Amino acid sequence: MPPWGSYHLALIVFTMPWNLHKTLVSLAFPYVVAALNNGVGVKPAMGWNPYNAFACSATEAMYHTQAQSIVSLGLLAVGYQYINLDCGWQATSRDSAGKFQWSNKTLPAGVPALATFVHNLGLKFGVYTDLGVFACDTVGGTAHFIGSLGHETSDVASYASRGADYVDNCFAVNSTDFVDFDPPISVRWDNIFRIMNQVVPITGFAARFNDLDMLEVGNSGLTTAEQRTHFAFWAATKSPLIISTDLTKAYTQTLNILKNTRIISLNQDALGKSIAFKRRYTNDHDVWSGPLSDGSTVALVINWQDSSRSLTFNLADVGFSSATATDLITGTSLGKVTTSITQTVAAHGSMVLKLTNGVAAPTSTFTFYPAASGTLAGGANTRVVNSSITVVGFVGNGGTLLSFDYINGDFTFSNTACSNCRNTFVSVNGGTAVQVQMPISAQSWDILLSGYLVSLPGFRAGKTNTITLSNPSAFTPDFYRVGVAV
Ligand SMILES: *[C@@H]1O[C@H](CO)[C@@H](O)[C@H](O)[C@H]1NC(C)=O
Ligand SMILES: *[C@@H]1O[C@H](CO)[C@@H](O)[C@H](O)[C@H]1NC(C)=O
Ligand SMILES: *[C@@H]1O[C@H](CO)[C@@H](O)[C@H](O)[C@H]1NC(C)=O
Repeated sequence: MPPWGSYHLALIVFTMPWNLHKTLVSLAFPYVVAALNNGVGVKPAMGWNPYNAFACSATEAMYHTQAQSIVSLGLLAVGYQYINLDCGWQATSRDSAGKFQWSNKTLPAGVPALATFVHNLGLKFGVYTDLGVFACDTVGGTAHFIGSLGHETSDVASYASRGADYVDNCFAVNSTDFVDFDPPISVRWDNIFRIMNQVVPITGFAARFNDLDMLEVGNSGLTTAEQRTHFAFWAATKSPLIISTDLTKAYTQTLNILKNTRIISLNQDALGKSIAFKRRYTNDHDVWSGPLSDGSTVALVINWQDSSRSLTFNLADVGFSSATATDLITGTSLGKVTTSITQTVAAHGSMVLKLTNGVAAPTSTFTFYPAASGTLAGGANTRVVNSSITVVGFVGNGGTLLSFDYINGDFTFSNTACSNCRNTFVSVNGGTAVQVQMPISAQSWDILLSGYLVSLPGFRAGKTNTITLSNPSAFTPDFYRVGVAV
């Protein structure tokens, strides 16, 4: 339940006869793929945008220099082709005919001249607008840059007539002013964790590509290993790869990350399918994977620990008992691997692996126990989602429950202790509770995440086992059921 519930003790004790030593739940996400047939947008866009380096203050001269850098640094050659405007290019009012105007201060030679400059370098040109009356800047009042709400068709036509090949936009919810939230733009690892959690439900529903927003590769605030993880995650989730750093000052390391063609080809893969969340080992590592057009699988394994360490990736977490593996960060062939792969991984670094000739791991079958059939006490209570789903909510803040098919609609644009996730502490037969970070299932409270997998020691074969879920200081997700591998 959302955190506006009462804060008295909530408790459910759930006992059941299990001859098991593990709790496993199957994983299932629906996929919807809408094919485009006009030749545009069939692959995620790649290019450059000023925002993460210059916010709304990029000038015409800067657009020229960055466009030239895209070419001279070899970035166009590996696919970065769009030079996109961001806030600051727009005027603060329309002309007398209602037409979108640019700022003469930012772009003295005008948009058509800039488009021509960009096109003459062999690049494409993008503009930026907003789905509100005003843009998502933080200037306020009449100083705001104009947005396109109510002018969508005519604005797009005028952008195209002035040479634009691409429109990027920001979403504003206030019809009389700009967007009414202010997402953090500081470059910290915490933001990456928050965004990854936010992506968990989206990978299953995206009609085409996810958009995780511009890259921070090259900007201060992330280590080289963190930047590699960030870039690989954006690439493998099929997000646009929009560089947003000052290329005139780019380090060799930055260019090495941005020009890794093995990672870029994940992004531009013809199948266009995002990796999906497979498994989280709380405060240890995440496993994500997805299919590629050649029949192989990409696996991304992220080290959440704050230090370099030996990390073991279990192939079974992506459905294989063995496979032929290639390290896509280095290009090194790892040959045939069985059961697991162990590598030294930097703090917040990752393994990015292409797996071919995968041999399927044995699949688990499950017995499911509805959470609502547990013994509820304190504030924990049931909530009917629809005719087939009843969940148990108000667990936590002192309470206890068991289940691993859940609903968590507690999304945030800020960094918290568990941004876009909720913690559940799981204990078997009264043993030490294990922390489990459960990402959001949706941005509403009626969509399940099915199959969050946790292995738990402490089961007694042939006996009645009791599992408790609790959280001493916050709410857990709402639980629907737990499946137990048989
Ligand atoms: C920019 O300059 C042109 C040419 O002088 C003028 O027509 C236009 O109104 C100016 N735009 C704005 C927003 O002031
Ligand atoms: C929209 O913005 C205006 C102007 O800043 C403000 O007065 C109003 O409260 C905002 N409305 C909403 C729903 O946020
Ligand atoms: C009930 O909700 C679940 C979870 O969102 C959904 O999968 C299911 O299709 C819904 N069933 C009905 C009958 O609406």
